Amino acid sequence: MFGLFRSKKVETAPPAVSHIAFIMDGNGRWAKRRGLPREAGHRPGARTFQRIVEHCLARGIPTVTVYAFSTENWRRPQREIDEIMELLEKYIDDTFTRYADRDVEIVFIGRRDGLSPALVEKMEKLEAGSRGRTSRVNIALNYGGRDEIVRAVNRLSEEGKLPCDEATLSAALDTAGRPDPDLVIRTGGDFRTSNFLLWESAYAEYFFTDTLWPDFTERELDRILSDFARRHRRFGGV
Ligand code: FPP
Repeated sequence: MFGLFRSKKVETAPPAVSHIAFIMDGNGRWAKRRGLPREAGHRPGARTFQRIVEHCLARGIPTVTVYAFSTENWRRPQREIDEIMELLEKYIDDTFTRYADRDVEIVFIGRRDGLSPALVEKMEKLEAGSRGRTSRVNIALNYGGRDEIVRAVNRLSEEGKLPCDEATLSAALDTAGRPDPDLVIRTGGDFRTSNFLLWESAYAEYFFTDTLWPDFTERELDRILSDFARRHRRFGGV
């Protein structure tokens, strides 16, 4: 099912996209519209994740971040939570066996507490096995943007590094070492950030589409990338 590390021709990237992030919304509605239980939307959602990440890498975008499970998603029905965790485990197993020939590191951002010890062990094994590679896929799991900032500040405090400057705080975040996202794409029709990459997205370009995540295609992504290339980013200047 999962094939992140399968070889693919690398094409030229559109200008200046060094980091792209996705809020993969709409899995539940996708399933409901087909008369299926909500949780049935996550499996096709996971396949879309694989396709889209693969496409980003093929386009030469070196960092991709996806929002897989938020600190607030624990409020969902248990069987939906179980389905998402199972898909993640399957993804890790599959990716681990195929990662050897791809120059991609996998990093899980978010809190580890609350996750099953077996899942955490797999996550850490995959991270350790892929560390230091050129491209990166960040998977936000048990992640909240505010929580990430609070954890970073508390760590800096413990280390006696407060007060600090922006660069120091950035370096203490889960996403440290990679540039901030250039664009954040949210599928599913809502216009919210939902606590995703709050610090890192300060100057990101946002794109919202009604497409439900399982239906999101490489073609739509290419259209968004073309649109992004035409946007004039001023970063607070003129
Ligand atoms: C939001 O749609 C989606 C999620 C909360 C889960 C995303 C998980 C996956 C795509 C599968 C697992 C991921 C990986 C990386 C293997 P929603 O359920 O809130 O949809 P709705 O807005 O229609 O209810």
